[in-house]
Amino acid sequence: MQEKFNELNKKIEQAKLGGGEKRIEAQHEKNKLTARERIHFLMDEGSFEEVGMFVTHRSNNFGLDKNKPLGDGVVTGYGTVNGRLTYVFAQDFTVMGGSLAEAHAEKIVKIMDMAMKNGAPLIGLNDSGGARIQEGVVSLGGYADIFYRNTQASGVIPQLSAIMGPCAGGAVYSPALTDFIMMVEKTSYMFVTGPNVVKTVTHEEVTSEELGGASAHSTKSGVTHFTYANEIECINGLKKLLSYIPQNCEEDAPALDYQSGDESREKLNAIIPDNPNQPYDIREVIDGTVDADSFHEVHKDFAENIVVGFARLAGRSIGIVANQPAFLAGVLDINSSAKGARFVRFCDAFNIPLLVFEDVPGFLPGTDQEWNAIITNGAKLLYAFSEATVPRVTVITRKAYGGAYDVMNSKHIGADMNFAWPTAEIAVMGAKGAAEIIFRKEIKEADDPEAKLKEKEAEYAEMFANPYNAAARGYVDEVIRPDQTREKLIKAFKMLENKVDQLPKKKHGNIPL
Ligand code: HXC
Repeated sequence: MQEKFNELNKKIEQAKLGGGEKRIEAQHEKNKLTARERIHFLMDEGSFEEVGMFVTHRSNNFGLDKNKPLGDGVVTGYGTVNGRLTYVFAQDFTVMGGSLAEAHAEKIVKIMDMAMKNGAPLIGLNDSGGARIQEGVVSLGGYADIFYRNTQASGVIPQLSAIMGPCAGGAVYSPALTDFIMMVEKTSYMFVTGPNVVKTVTHEEVTSEELGGASAHSTKSGVTHFTYANEIECINGLKKLLSYIPQNCEEDAPALDYQSGDESREKLNAIIPDNPNQPYDIREVIDGTVDADSFHEVHKDFAENIVVGFARLAGRSIGIVANQPAFLAGVLDINSSAKGARFVRFCDAFNIPLLVFEDVPGFLPGTDQEWNAIITNGAKLLYAFSEATVPRVTVITRKAYGGAYDVMNSKHIGADMNFAWPTAEIAVMGAKGAAEIIFRKEIKEADDPEAKLKEKEAEYAEMFANPYNAAARGYVDEVIRPDQTREKLIKAFKMLENKVDQLPKKKHGNIPL
């Protein structure tokens, strides 16, 4: 018996050593942790149970029969993160560059199926040279098996991807199909075709970091939702994100204890500048309203004219979508619409109520926007809000102009409660533009056209640059002082706690992609 136990212990040691000490050292030299170290820092101490430690590949191609490392380059299993069941796979770059082939993929698929059946989040820690070249088409099949499950699991369980090394070629599509991507600065990159192919095809000279590093994907493409300076921060980011979201689409996000008593927020009264064209930072409004230090921004450096993220209100998780007057005056454009839409759909899929802060002068004009389909992209945000059945509340802080008024969670598209601050301006367009159009003739014929324009502008502003016309029709439920916002929102979301709303029976809708 002892002999059998010794054999087992030897195999376990062997598996835990991955590609060997030298390769572990090489990994550390690149400022990267090993797959097991990453899992160690992610999971609650002692909670991780490994599944498939002794799996090996079955290929004899190109000398692979002489190298059958235990685990086949990926560590898979389950454990708890802050006490909640979580499934994980971590690719082991020390074993054949973490390359993915038949057995490696089967291990990931097994853990994905378990996560689906048991209704718990799946975390992928990606660090791989891509499809294992020696195994050929089975590697591609393995990827597709994963992509298929990513799609089946979408909207059922949360799927989070951390990129902690290379992620190239078709391999990028598994993270892309998950809900959130985070990247580690300087040590991770993602691209469909690398610098060499780029040079051959387009003659562009670009480094891996420039092409697909964390900075490129957080600011230019928006592929990644978060970036972190190192792997430990990234792992802490995964844990933080999980704390705002439920285990699956049937559950609510965990709530924290909340003591009432700090509802009135005087500071909010001083945020909106007297000049309606002067910017302010919408984050001040968000931070001033939600539970202390609870705002967790998503997609921070991309399409900064819209701010999205999770927060807590009276201990409960909410998703926030807010126009940002401090960037491009808070206009809606292609990127901000797509960013907002994706976040709204995540929150709706996972029962996270939505809070919108609105200060939007309209859609961004120009050929660039029109030719790149602001129509289709703006419609994404409109569609996402319109189909969301979670509790939805809007606060109009200042401008709510034109089509953007409709899009930003208006009552007309299903918002449950809409509040406006006294500084709200709810109109088809700004007073100057409106006066120029509807009083054109009068202005042109006046002795002093400029004075006439000013007079007509003031007339229009008097009529519409306020929240009361909208409130008179019930488009706004209540006009409130900024300092009352937190209290009103807590009450509104409490009232909406048991909201039940259903979409018409359909296979699925056809969001304008
Ligand atoms: C087999 C691989 C591998 C791969 C790396 N290795 N990638 N083995 N298949 N795809 C092995 C290397 O041979 C090496 O083994 C070990 O992993 C470490 O790799 P290094 O090159 O020494 O590491 P490094 O210098 O850090 O470079 C990492 C790398 C490079 C940039 C990822 O290895 C690389 O370019 N690999 C190939 C990437 C690639 O073209 N993949 C296919 C993409 S297409 P030894 O034993 O020598 O130490 C794809 C399609 C997916 O993935 C489609 C899905 C639909």
